[in-house]
Formats: sequence, structure tokens, C-alpha cells
Amino acid sequence: MNDSMEQKMKMRHLLCAAMLAFSACIPAIAAEPVEAHLTVAKEVAGPRIEPEIYGHFVEHLGTGVYGGLWVGPESEIPNTRGWRNDVIEALRRIEVPVIRWPGGCFADDYDWRDGIGDPAKRPVRLNRWWGRVPESNRVGTHEFMDLVELLDSEAYIAANMGSMSPMDTSRWLEYMTSDSDSTLAKERRRNGRERPWRVKYVGVGNESWGCGGNMRPEYQADLHNRYATYLHDTLRVASGDGQRDDHLVEVLMERSGAHMDAFTLHYYTIAGEWEDKGPATGFGLDRWAKGLESALGIEERIVAVSGIMDKYDPDKRIALYVDEWGTWHDPAPGSNPGFLQQQNTLRDALVAAVSFNAFHRHTERVKMANIAQMVNVLQAMALTDGPRMALTPTYHVFDMYKPFRGATPLKATLETPRWREGDIELPAVDASVARTADGRVVLALANLDPRRSARVRTNLSGAVQGRILTADAIDAHNTFARPDVLVPTPYSAGGEGEALTLELPAKSIVVVDLPR
Ligand code: AHR
Repeated sequence: MNDSMEQKMKMRHLLCAAMLAFSACIPAIAAEPVEAHLTVAKEVAGPRIEPEIYGHFVEHLGTGVYGGLWVGPESEIPNTRGWRNDVIEALRRIEVPVIRWPGGCFADDYDWRDGIGDPAKRPVRLNRWWGRVPESNRVGTHEFMDLVELLDSEAYIAANMGSMSPMDTSRWLEYMTSDSDSTLAKERRRNGRERPWRVKYVGVGNESWGCGGNMRPEYQADLHNRYATYLHDTLRVASGDGQRDDHLVEVLMERSGAHMDAFTLHYYTIAGEWEDKGPATGFGLDRWAKGLESALGIEERIVAVSGIMDKYDPDKRIALYVDEWGTWHDPAPGSNPGFLQQQNTLRDALVAAVSFNAFHRHTERVKMANIAQMVNVLQAMALTDGPRMALTPTYHVFDMYKPFRGATPLKATLETPRWREGDIELPAVDASVARTADGRVVLALANLDPRRSARVRTNLSGAVQGRILTADAIDAHNTFARPDVLVPTPYSAGGEGEALTLELPAKSIVVVDLPR
């Protein structure tokens, strides 16, 4: 450690000591870093990392649409045809490959006809799932597809299997995608859209075991087949597991495998129990450990679901879409509990990093993942309050991981020490390595240990450049007043011809690029 680094460490300790009184600041232990070893092989570990793994989910829930993304064309908040410019610009920077909409639970209560035509004449409905607030239907199909186009994204429509008929869904699809002179295509033109839209994915219901109709898997399988029969020229996505229900996976794969292109998994990270999720900020090391333990569990579930899928689909024709994932904390104090609003901290950033690493390790099945949700809801990219916006640490992880999109995962062996908090023991380091289309090696490393830094020795050599996301406080987060508390900063390691060793501060994420 050189003098200036030592000075910086001392300053951090002093600052941390001062901050301890107010927040969950965990001073790094000044001891030697723990040692980890990463051996990267030349062989590929699986098919490419589909960009859709960095997909999003937008639901009519709280301020996820209204306020967070949509302010309306008449708003004083700068907007493009109603979509707020600050959020759109930020989302364009992280390149949104696919957006799932309109739910969630909302999807199985949604009548697409409510959201087309003259906005002034659209019916107001009650959003029965989320706060029982009025749903103006001001954002409907045309507005959503405009958002998809503004973000150069793909549409993933979650269709209503719970409370509408297969004909409703097939007509919605015809309305959106037909180039003909059918009555529905003409209606779309009259409503302002000449060219048909492309709808690449259609979800057949959502959580059919719960808010999507409380169905038995056997009943859902029959219903899925019936609905899927009327879906043409789109990828048919079956509503899948969200409750560790292996029986459901078996039944759907066995009875409906022939009628689906993808099967879904919902997995939420909870730093406690469902009834006691714990706060989004101001938590202790117990909840830090619990949250990361829960996040790491996503891989076990992917493996379990994929294993069952393999039985019925050994050629892996059917993809696994993790189309809802992310943290679910207690609602922000003072907020409407039905709005699922929560802050987003360094812990959420690490959850995102280990989730991406897990997706990268299972690209033979996992072809899409959609974080819940895009803005203001659960593990969001951005938080807004009137005209103000703050990007979250999770947003920055999406940004840092951009080089992984379309890259091919490489085989790697990681030997990592473990750390313990109470009765939870977890690995310190988690890693992902991939080769980009132009031959660079990208490496992501996360140090989950809240106290100790890690030194990662590798079999690679050379100088790397990249970015690091870290902070002193385990609940460091960005606010409207201080939006830059947690932002990535430049990181470099190694030198020409030298063996590459990377130093990871406690609770940090590093993504670097190794030139070829
Ligand atoms: O993302 C919030 C809710 O979580 C979704 O509406 C539902 O599908 C899931 O239970």
C-alpha cells in the first residue's frame, strides 16, 4: 500500500467513525485482505449471454408508470409524448433490450380495450391489486409501444389468462401486429398507428398459481394450451414457478411443453421473511447477510427448474425466462404500502451483481431476465419525486455489466474464502468471466464480505481498466439531494506482462476489461 492509499484508508476510517452514529457504516478491517484465486480457461462455458438477460419489467403499480415514467404531454416536466426525458435518457444509456408490461398481477385484471382510443374517453378502473387506486388507462397499448420504440427495445406483452378469453388475447395481438385490412388493423390505424408493431413475446398469464387465477398446475396446463393455440407469430411464454413448486414445473413441462417457447421463474430476494422483509436502509449486518444469502439462492432455483425442464426438453428448445427478479423490502416509511416503493442501496447493487453472475453461468437455459421493476417500484433503476430523479446503485450495476451483453461465458474456477455473520456463512468473492465478440475478456468480481477486502489472484496477465462500485456504509444510497453518493469510479489493476491480481475493497463490485 503506498502512502497516499494509506492516507485515504485513514480518512475513510475517520469518516466512517463519524458516520457510524447515523447509518450502517461498517469500517473495513485493516487486516491483510483475504486471498482468492481465479483460474480462467480458454474454453467456453455455455452459449452467449443474451442481451435480454438485462431486461426490465414495468407494471401499473404505484408510481412505476404514472409519475415515474409517464408524466403526460401536458406536464411541465420535460417529456417526449408524455414519457419523461430524464428517465428515458438514463434508460437509453443502459440499453433496455426488452420490457415486460402491463403486469404482474395487474396483467390478469387488464382489458386491453380500456387503453386504446381517445384518452379522454378511456374508462377509469380500480387497480385492485395495487392500492385500489384509480387506473386512468392514460397509458395503454399505443403509449407503451411508443416507450418500447423510444428505448429501441422489444415488447413482451403479459396477456390476461386469468379473467379474459383466448379470443381477447388473439385480438389484441392482431390489433398490434396485423398489416392487413382487418377491422382491428384499421382500428389501430384510426387510433394513430399506421405500421404494425412487432410483439416478439407474449406471456400467457402471470403467476397463475396465485394472482393470475389461483389455478392448480393441471388446470393451468390445459388452459395454457388452449390460449397458446390462438397465439401466432410470437414467442409463447408460459407462466411458471414462483413458489419453489417442482410439481408445477413438472406438470407444465409435461403437459404444455409442446405449446410454449419459454417457461418462467419468479425469484425475489428477501432479507428476512415474507412477513418481516426488513427495511431497505438502516439495516444491520444480519440483514446484509440474509439478503445476500437469499440472492445467491437464485442459482439453486435456476438449477432445480432447469433440471426438471431437461427431463422433458433435453434439447433445450424451451428457454427459461426469469421474468421477475430483484429485492423486495419493507415499503418506504410513509409511502402507500400497496405501491412497493423502496430505497436501493449497496446491498441491492450486490444482489444485482450476483444475480447477473448466476444468469451468466446458466445461459444454456436462461435467455431472458426482467428486473422488478423499472422505476419507483421494488429494485428500481431510478427513483422519482415530481421533477426530481435519482439513479440507483442497481442502475449503475446494469451500466457496469454492459460489456457482458452478447459475450460468451468462459469456464473459470474460483477458490474463495468464506465469511460468517451469525449462523450465515457465505463466499466472499463471486465472479463472472466472458469473451466479447471482438475478443476482449470481461471480468466481474463482487466482494460480499462487508468487513474485509479480498485479493484475487488470477492466471491472467496484463493491465485492466474498468469501474468499481463501493462505499463505507452497507446501506449507502443515492437521494434526490445527494444523487451521487454511490456511483462507479475508475478502477485499474495489473501491468503489462504482469500476472493480474485485483484488490477488492470490502462490499464492492468491480468490472474490468482485459484487452486482447
Ligand atoms: O412485482 C410485483 C408483483 O410480484 C407482481 O405483480 C407479481 O407478479 C409478483 O408477485
